[in-house]
Amino acid sequence: MQERARGVALSPGDAVLVVGAGAMGRGIALVAASAGHPVFLADVSEEARRRALTAIAEELEGGVRKGRMSAEEADAIRERIQAVAEPQGVASQVRLVIEAIVEDLEVKRALFASLEPLVPSEAILATNTSSLSITAIAAPLARPERVVGMHFFNPPSRMKLVEVVSGLATASEVAQTIRDTAVRWGKIAVMARSTPGFIVNRVARPFYAEALRVLAEGAADCATLDAVVREAGGFPMGPFELMDLIGHDVNFAVTSSVWSAYFYDKRFQPSLIQQELVWAGRLGRKSGRGFYDYAEGASRPAAAEVPPCHDRVPSAVVAVGEFGPFSALLERLAAAGVEVQRRPADTGTGPVRIEAANVWIVPTDGRTATRLAHEHGHADVVVLDWARDWAQTLRAAVARADGCAQDSWACALGLLQRAGIAVTPLDDVAGLILARTVAMLANEAADAVLAGIGTPRDIDTAMRYGTNYPLGPLAWAEAMGVARIVGLLDRLAEHYGEDRYRVSPLLRRHLWNERPLDGGDEGEKK
Ligand code: NAI
Repeated sequence: MQERARGVALSPGDAVLVVGAGAMGRGIALVAASAGHPVFLADVSEEARRRALTAIAEELEGGVRKGRMSAEEADAIRERIQAVAEPQGVASQVRLVIEAIVEDLEVKRALFASLEPLVPSEAILATNTSSLSITAIAAPLARPERVVGMHFFNPPSRMKLVEVVSGLATASEVAQTIRDTAVRWGKIAVMARSTPGFIVNRVARPFYAEALRVLAEGAADCATLDAVVREAGGFPMGPFELMDLIGHDVNFAVTSSVWSAYFYDKRFQPSLIQQELVWAGRLGRKSGRGFYDYAEGASRPAAAEVPPCHDRVPSAVVAVGEFGPFSALLERLAAAGVEVQRRPADTGTGPVRIEAANVWIVPTDGRTATRLAHEHGHADVVVLDWARDWAQTLRAAVARADGCAQDSWACALGLLQRAGIAVTPLDDVAGLILARTVAMLANEAADAVLAGIGTPRDIDTAMRYGTNYPLGPLAWAEAMGVARIVGLLDRLAEHYGEDRYRVSPLLRRHLWNERPLDGGDEGEKK
């Protein structure tokens, strides 16, 4: 185990210089001042400085109105922030510089080069970059070991996560000091190695990519897919509404930059659909139109849902095989008055399934319903998407085989409805929507662990607090069973014949060892 480097959090008396008073810089200044630091907020633009101070004052007033702080506390915080035009003029007084200027390597290098000779020798130079290499930013400096990434999320005052990113030269005490300081500032800090996208912007890519891919295959419309991801997956927002919120220009640029930075790895390939939206200027909420229409009076399309099929529910079903996390669905069926008989798994290759009258309901293993029907010589197959929690879920997605009889389809739908589940029909796409999204997130998280980008615990923590996922992807893989994740990815790889779905060697390794994916490390708890 690596020895914990010693770093000491900044004390409230230490002055902080934030350079760049845009959306991020002003938020970071507020966070630092709220923790008691005197803060210089520098920007080349007078207009930006003025707007930043106004925005900070408004946010503080809001805090007072909501009872989060007293008017005196708000005044004290505001007084600790001083706007300056030239960071060089105050550099000698500060213990920490956080730059949040334009995302341009040469501009950031030039700023640090001008500040390096002026700041005290113990000062740390931190960058809020979300996509540039910390190693590259630091390289031209005389002392690159004191450059570190301090990556806040937007808006900095509300998002809990800070990624502390080390480049090749970053001293471990420097990273540790920034981590401890972020914690003192009320943040949740994770350690990451400088690689494209760091943790969050890399591991989150499949959340968008799989949904875009399923949309491109015409499996369902955006509102339907969003509803499944939100309601069955427990994500706070569906992928399409989230991309609309982030802005397609930003989201597409991040995807494209991660893709090229990983030398065009198929796993990160951007979507043509999103590129079209960018070209059309349909950037999402901010432009009034993206996947959804935000014009005044525009109505939000409803998710597809099947009508009630209550008259088709059989009184008894047979559950074949090991249901694992799907067992709670059987319990719900039993509680709803359906007799559930259990039968061990087939000796052959029959899938885990619920047999209801003539239909097989199969929790997706990555095969399409049509393929399952063909492989098992049983026409009436319906595949069932995953849910975050089968004891609770109020929605689930299903798809039927091309040859599935209407009566059998209605029987499967009625059965799920009997358990209190709203059923969303998708076209017969491999891995449906939630299952392939969760499996790909877990795969990406596992690969990030394998590449030493962060510890399993830090990666799960980063995804929970940087993106508000209900569960870290590795903990989710553990809950689903790593074998299910690997099986699903193998089927997707086979189905598409693409390297994009290759299984992380770490997931494969965990099929055979007993260590938990999400807690097996001795990572520090923060
Ligand atoms: P922004 O465009 O809102 O603000 C940048 C500010 O920096 C502007 O006010 C500009 O006048 C000023 N500036 C530019 N060059 C300067 C220089 N040489 N010296 C002093 N001031 C200068 O940008 P935003 O969104 O605040 O982003 C800033 C940094 O934070 C970028 O590196 C970005 O990648 C990163 N970031 C952005 C996030 C976001 O969601 N917007 C999230 C996390 C990181």
